[in-house]
Amino acid sequence: MKPVKSGSIEEMFNTISSKYDLLNDMFSFGLHRLWKRKLLNILNPTYGEKWVDLCCGTGDMSILLAQYMKCSENIIGIDSASKALSVAKKRSKKKYSSIEWINVDALKTNLPSNQFDGLLMAYGLRNLASYDFGLKEACRILKTGGRAGILDFRSFDGYSIQGLFQKIYLSFYVVPIASFFGLGKEYSYIKKSLEQFPSGSKQIHLALMAGFKKAEYKKIAMGQMGILLLEA
Ligand SMILES: C[S@@+](CC[C@H](N)C(=O)[O-])C[C@H]1O[C@@H](n2cnc3c(N)ncnc32)[C@H](O)[C@@H]1O
Repeated sequence: MKPVKSGSIEEMFNTISSKYDLLNDMFSFGLHRLWKRKLLNILNPTYGEKWVDLCCGTGDMSILLAQYMKCSENIIGIDSASKALSVAKKRSKKKYSSIEWINVDALKTNLPSNQFDGLLMAYGLRNLASYDFGLKEACRILKTGGRAGILDFRSFDGYSIQGLFQKIYLSFYVVPIASFFGLGKEYSYIKKSLEQFPSGSKQIHLALMAGFKKAEYKKIAMGQMGILLLEA
């Protein structure tokens, strides 16, 4: 699949950037922090390593990473939405000013190959115009043996209680609350983005095809979220 123009996605995330963190906390009851923390506990980034956070948005994952490593140097956050990055810059200014924020497409970062020990992507892969191009780019910029963790919603094929729960949660909780903030259209996109999004073994297959040597998928949050763990 070729990357397609992702201008409308960029525009959408620019529109929601000022309310993104508040809504994220409301929609997940703050639990997204625990899931991100869990991802870090599994990957165990260590002091001195070089990490990149792809689709970093307003930067909370990058900052959690800096807190985990007790160092904000050698961390790069990448996002295509400049307004989301402005929020990230502002919130990192005092204690995490060494984090570098780069406004570029995650499908074509222009970063040199083989340079990161680790890579994170939280709720980003689903939004990319091409999952395989995104995974190839992630693999390219990681050192051999570098590790990656990709956190996102799970998608469900056919009928399941978990799938039904997700549909009800998105349609009757997320969208109405977002609508109250004037962002109903933007947040109804989540359901749409999950229609084509692969989960579990399909994500593993895509990652191996993109060049990763090892791939494993873990369900978390009572099966509503998934973590793809990779080794380049
Ligand atoms: C749902 S937000 C996730 C933000 C953050 N990682 C988090 O966990 O809260 C998805 C982010 O992916 C970014 N994004 C989407 N497509 C992108 C692309 N092609 N290149 C870089 N960033 C992209 C959006 O701008 C947005 O900030």
